[in-house]
Amino acid sequence: MTTPMAHHVTLSGRDVRYFDAGEGRPLVLLHGFPLSADMWRPQLEAAPPGWRLIAPDLRGFGGTTRDVATPAGRVDAPATAIDDYAGDVLQLLDALELERAVIGGLSMGGYVAFGLVRRAPDRVEALVLADTRSEADTEEARANRMAMLEAIERNGPRAVADTMLPRLLGATTQATRPELAGEMRRLIEANRPAGLADAVRCMMSRPDSTPLLASLACPALVVAGREDVLTPVAVHEQMCARLRRATLAVIERAGHLSNLEQPQAFGEALARFLAAL
Ligand code: MLT
Repeated sequence: MTTPMAHHVTLSGRDVRYFDAGEGRPLVLLHGFPLSADMWRPQLEAAPPGWRLIAPDLRGFGGTTRDVATPAGRVDAPATAIDDYAGDVLQLLDALELERAVIGGLSMGGYVAFGLVRRAPDRVEALVLADTRSEADTEEARANRMAMLEAIERNGPRAVADTMLPRLLGATTQATRPELAGEMRRLIEANRPAGLADAVRCMMSRPDSTPLLASLACPALVVAGREDVLTPVAVHEQMCARLRRATLAVIERAGHLSNLEQPQAFGEALARFLAAL
């Protein structure tokens, strides 16, 4: 097992941090909200043979700045639409001279993966959609996002951790691995309030990606934690029914963070899918 090294690159004046582990065909892993690329450590530490795993911090998360260097100094350049994050990923692929990659995303990372399909379908070799959904926010979800924006304004990342942690982890993990909640809290609280708020706004205005599903020609692995209360298994079954070439993997004893809660089962499903590409 090798601990992944963080790499840094400057893209259009923005400092971008990403992990790069293993060698071979590229798989890009996009993190969920309100975390960072560190959530992919179990997968990065066990990259399947023949695969290179690249996991960037999205704009304003972890070690990737939301501001950019200009001749006049650093200026804010926040993401204002979910597809802005997808544009950043394409820029990273260009910098790494990668024409095509398998694109994987968990939850918000999945929303960004759909953005990549919208912007550059030819560069997506296959998709891994974990604990995510294709639909846009409902009115109720938007109202919850407004409340979260107010909570971030008042209490910063701690408020996001307090609200989300009980729903990110499944019941089994909460009962048997309480230390994982502490680790997730550290990742969440390491994020800056402005980056979190940008992402909340981008998620609440994201388009419905459901019409994309039937047009997708590439293979897709759809992964669902059995105990995921944010994006339940049924949501993933519906996505699979609309996709032309989908494989569903339900991860037992895992909630929304299926890759962290059951890394072995997640890794096996991922390795099986990649081996068949
Ligand atoms: C995530 O894990 O990225 C979030 O649950 C996504 C969301 O809030 O819609």
